[in-house]
Amino acid sequence: MAKTKSVYVCQNCGAESVKWLGRCPSCGEWNTYVEERITKETSSRPGLVNVSRNAIPTPIREIDSDNELRVDTKIGELNRILGGGIVPGSVILLGGEPGIGKSTLALQLALGLKSQKVLYISGEESARQVKLRADRINHDSQDCLILNETLLENILTQTERVCPELVVIDSIQTLYTDTIESSPGSVSQVRETAAALLRYAKTSGTPVILIGHITKDGSIAGPKVLEHIVDVVLQFEGDQNYLYRILRSAKNRFGSTSEIGIFEMQSGGLVEVTNPSEILLSHREEMLSGIAVAATIDGARPFLIETQALVSTAVYGTPQRSTTGFDPRRLNMLLAVLERRAGFRLANKDVFLNIAGGLRVNDPAIDLAIISAILSSTFDVAIAGSTCFAAEVGLSGEIRPVSRLDQRIAEAAKLGMSRAFVSKYNLKKSDVHPKGIEVIPLGRIEELVKALFGRSSGRQQQADS
Ligand code: TYD
Ligand code: MG
Repeated sequence: MAKTKSVYVCQNCGAESVKWLGRCPSCGEWNTYVEERITKETSSRPGLVNVSRNAIPTPIREIDSDNELRVDTKIGELNRILGGGIVPGSVILLGGEPGIGKSTLALQLALGLKSQKVLYISGEESARQVKLRADRINHDSQDCLILNETLLENILTQTERVCPELVVIDSIQTLYTDTIESSPGSVSQVRETAAALLRYAKTSGTPVILIGHITKDGSIAGPKVLEHIVDVVLQFEGDQNYLYRILRSAKNRFGSTSEIGIFEMQSGGLVEVTNPSEILLSHREEMLSGIAVAATIDGARPFLIETQALVSTAVYGTPQRSTTGFDPRRLNMLLAVLERRAGFRLANKDVFLNIAGGLRVNDPAIDLAIISAILSSTFDVAIAGSTCFAAEVGLSGEIRPVSRLDQRIAEAAKLGMSRAFVSKYNLKKSDVHPKGIEVIPLGRIEELVKALFGRSSGRQQQADS
């Protein structure tokens, strides 16, 4: 017999309570409790494949790992992020803001796997709309199966009938199961449907890709448990106004989480960007002040990126500090270092900072480029386009070493850079640098000011005048 139970569930974190609460004691959000009715089945859950599993404890040496065949996704960037392809039976959660290209990426993947049977379940768009999108993406796949369905039980019936080799669900927030009375997208629906699909993936060995919406603050909508139960969490990021999209893995049970993939949205779908440096540098002809190139690393890949700063006299009492793609607190720290350690008075200046291409950079090695861009804008003296920077700046104004410097220098040399400013603590006597690039070691900010602009630091300048 079915028993109906009613609980209040926090739509933000998934915490449950028997009575309504104004403020969630678990996540602290207000007005997030919604009543959800749960019908508990006393028999086993319907519609699920029940394969009896051999649940006998096995010594680890007897478990072979060689047969971990991965499905090649035919999208190089995606393969790299996944650690070589999709692992059978894995569940991948693909999250991102609306319009970023989640459906496009999933459909491109589905159409690209020509020799495999892919079932693309669309709960958001009709089959015709999916077809129209497929026509935009240049493809020659004939056999990709499209299903327009949102009831979980029906989906599981179809997967049993069709036996696909990959299932794509667009999106998990549109699915619902009969056993729960709350509306699709609510925490309990998302949790139950995801858990059922996870059981399906594990018992049948079919990989499942779940597309998930994200909330205002950027986390995947639905309970945190969703991120816990899936094997891989991929985040699709990028600014809608820019064409570049970055795919990051926030969790990966079968590979590294330090890889990123860069795509460009074109009229014919997403195109991989295999050489990011080329698009992130503006290849300008004239010399403009306030621009410095940083040799950064994201994931395993080094690339060059432009940082732009604008320093101007503050019109209002409180100067503005505004950043795009960079942590504003770190900018404040760098400005304080410039002020205290090198004597530049920036307290009454507005400072704007921008990382080109709409990217977000967390690599501390970008510090030196940012300081250089700020100084270049302050002096209104341009830095040559063939100069790049790779070092962290410490609180006492020292220029600190960064990881994998040789890879950064190699990338810079490959892209025609002729000078690289680095930390002197980063260099060893035995280092051999690529031809054509001069590596300039620095110990303190004052040395940077001297080497780059031929000036002494701000403190002496102010004393002189
Ligand atoms: P979409 O995949 O629908 O985003 P999501 O599923 O994450 O909400 O992407 C939609 C955007 O991508 C839309 O603004 C149109 C654009 N787009 C292209 O520029 N070229 C294309 O070939 C396709 C299919 C979409
Ligand atoms: Mg979509």
